[in-house]
Amino acid sequence: MTPPPGRPGSAAGPGERAVPAAVRAVRAFVAAYGREPTLLVRSPARVNLIGEHTDYNDGLCLPVAIDRELCIALRRTDDVPTAGDATLRLVSEQDPAPAVVGLPPPAADTPPPARATGWARYVQGVAVQLAATGELAAIGELAGAGLVPWQGALASDIPLGAGLSSSAALELAVAVACTHLAGSVPAPTELARLAQRAENTWVGAATGLLDQLACVGGIAGHALRIDCRTLTITPVPLPAGLAVVVIDTGSRRELVTSAYADRRAECERAARALAVPALRDLEALPADAASRLDPVALRRARFVIAENARVDAVAEALARGDAEAAGRLLLAGHRGIRDDFEVSGPELDAAVAAAQAAPGCFGARMTGGGFAGCAVALVDRTRLDAFTAAFEPAYSARTGREAVLHVCSAVAGTSVTALR
Ligand code: GLA
Repeated sequence: MTPPPGRPGSAAGPGERAVPAAVRAVRAFVAAYGREPTLLVRSPARVNLIGEHTDYNDGLCLPVAIDRELCIALRRTDDVPTAGDATLRLVSEQDPAPAVVGLPPPAADTPPPARATGWARYVQGVAVQLAATGELAAIGELAGAGLVPWQGALASDIPLGAGLSSSAALELAVAVACTHLAGSVPAPTELARLAQRAENTWVGAATGLLDQLACVGGIAGHALRIDCRTLTITPVPLPAGLAVVVIDTGSRRELVTSAYADRRAECERAARALAVPALRDLEALPADAASRLDPVALRRARFVIAENARVDAVAEALARGDAEAAGRLLLAGHRGIRDDFEVSGPELDAAVAAAQAAPGCFGARMTGGGFAGCAVALVDRTRLDAFTAAFEPAYSARTGREAVLHVCSAVAGTSVTALR
């Protein structure tokens, strides 16, 4: 949830923007280590179409893994005795300081002051979880060998702090790099849970599983209906004429993590008062809900229950090619998250209003954890130019800011390929 890596802002200099992250990662590897990388890990961002703040309520969500990616070019370092020490070492185009994790990594109960800081926390946290859970211990001839040292270079096109899960992309990239080198191919859900544990217990953000499952489970051309209780992922085809437009409002907020923890606690309070394991277990508010819940918990529960229902309704609308119905549900979701869940923000509301008024837009809503970052709009692909031409001045007039529009394709989840 917290944005890695490095400073906020664009991921590459103006001249570099046209160069794909995969190419930049390979170049950065050669520049940093003076030899060629052998593997390339690619990890997508995600945008959530609907089903926000439902994951930690055991509920449903509908994200898309998108073609904005984080890449790591890497090579194991125990192949040449002098090539490296027993570390995972990762340089980034966005930070002059590399992330370095000594092997074996620190114990999982190492107190926060002794942990890495910044984006290196995510790298270290994944290594810690891999070592702590024995994830690598039961792997054929490598049994007990654990983590293989490697060196890598990272390049990313995922905007930072925008709510597109740059952190999950990094976690999954590191997890796939480590498990691949150890000869292990864990199930995507296991990788996602491991990455989530790194974020929850090492980084200290009490997030759900949405980001990691979306990032690792991506399927080209499809949204993913995720049941966060059973961890079942059902692909939902995106209609060919529909463009998923991610609107980066340019706004960023501090203190999002504490507000997130508050919402989570409010939902748990509501579930306890309504005597259910999680808000997922309710299809409607009970008739006496207003007397059993304080007003805040009542609003939170009302939103989560309605949002779960919207996930199935949007999935069904997309599957039958009904973009108008899907769009109406997105707008209803935005109103709910703004008024009942209270995690929208002025720029997000302005972006949704400007998108809704622009030609070709079926519907829009804020996406991600909230308060700032990105909105998502479903737009008629044949009217993208008219949409953009109307949206940009309308959003600027409302906010004095410039938004960045990303027309996105749905892509496969985190993958690793041999470079030679
Ligand atoms: C953040 C969290 C996710 C999820 C969303 C809201 O992205 O990391 O687990 O809770 O917020 O849907």
